[in-house]
Amino acid sequence: MPDAAVLQNKKDTIKIVVLGAAGGIGQSLSLLIKSQLYYMVKTEKRLHLALYDINKDAIAGVVADMSHIDTPITISAHYSDSQDPNESLKACLTDASIVLIPAGVPRKPGMTRDDLFKINAGIVTQLTDSIIEYCDLKKLFILLISNPINSLIPVILNRFKNSNVVDSNIEKRLFGITTLDSTRGAIFLKDMLNDLKISSGLQLMEMPHVPVIGGHSGDTIIPVFSQCSAADNLSQDQISHLIHRIQYGGDEIVMAKKGKGSATLSMAHSSFKMLIKFIDLLLGNSNDITITSYISLTTLDDNEIATGGKELMSRINNLKYFAIPTVVSIDGIKEIKFKIIDYLNYNEFNELLPICLENLNSNIITGESFPK
Ligand code: NAD
Ligand code: LMR
Repeated sequence: MPDAAVLQNKKDTIKIVVLGAAGGIGQSLSLLIKSQLYYMVKTEKRLHLALYDINKDAIAGVVADMSHIDTPITISAHYSDSQDPNESLKACLTDASIVLIPAGVPRKPGMTRDDLFKINAGIVTQLTDSIIEYCDLKKLFILLISNPINSLIPVILNRFKNSNVVDSNIEKRLFGITTLDSTRGAIFLKDMLNDLKISSGLQLMEMPHVPVIGGHSGDTIIPVFSQCSAADNLSQDQISHLIHRIQYGGDEIVMAKKGKGSATLSMAHSSFKMLIKFIDLLLGNSNDITITSYISLTTLDDNEIATGGKELMSRINNLKYFAIPTVVSIDGIKEIKFKIIDYLNYNEFNELLPICLENLNSNIITGESFPK
């Protein structure tokens, strides 16, 4: 049985947990992990994938199906079947190295991500309580996918604070995944360059990198085209079109799916790209990784705020969360790359940033006020 094997060798095992694994993102992401991770990272260690969902029938079927995939990554299914539902979460979360959370409801046409707040805040709070109970918080990495990211990361961090476990430094290892915004930036830009036959310096099979900072909804999303040389030959109108498309890219999928959910496949792809970096870190293949994700700025000490973060912090008092490039080591956030703010162009700094900060602050207050 995979679990027994994992327990025997737990020091040599990287245990990846997906909570909400039977859903649209959960299934596709788990498939990528089970089928592709083996080819993406070099390791002598055991990789184990533990999948949990409240939908018992679905998760049992998903794991049965995936257990026929011929990679050495072991896999286990967890669902609340017993009189004590915590037993399944305990088995799933014990010895976890990294927990991905796509559990929660997605949008339907006409809804904003904020409309998901109440129900998803309840779900992530319950899951956070189990993480607090069963995981070693001094080592754990948590990657949140569920929306609204802007408000749910504060909900989770407050839950940790209220449980007096912040001395574990868990706030340095808690990340809201915003990668889908730069994934969209890259493909939308590449498509525009191809369609309009605009020269970019990119090879035929090369993708651009579009940095995106801020938050993950509407105008809290700040695509930073000033730091994307492939966009240098675009007009301001073309850049404005791309910015708007990235900010509201999620709506395109929600409309296309006609009430059957939001982005799942592109999100599974985006979170898998992020996960690979963390697995390299956990395996010791990299000492540091550089990622962009939505993080708590309270991980900063005063010295960092006084230097690199001065410009940003002067825009809004007490901004507590932001998506920004970050260097992460095995102990968590090591350096926040605030310089990106200094390099913003006039429009990014004077138009996009103030609107982002105003809305983000209100999303953060919503998160911090839960539960009232
Ligand atoms: P989905 O409905 O297909 O799947 C959600 C899964 O969560 C379901 O299987 C459900 O049974 C499970 N679940 C619900 N409550 C649970 C609980 N308490 N414990 C464990 N599992 C539970 O939804 P989806 O399309 O996979 O989207 C999931 C979330 O991800 C949504 O909130 C969506 O808005 C968000 N999302 C985020 C991004 C991003 O960029 N961060 C992108 C796309 C979607
Ligand atoms: C996205 O950006 O596609 C996700 O956040 C899902 C959504 O609700 O738009």
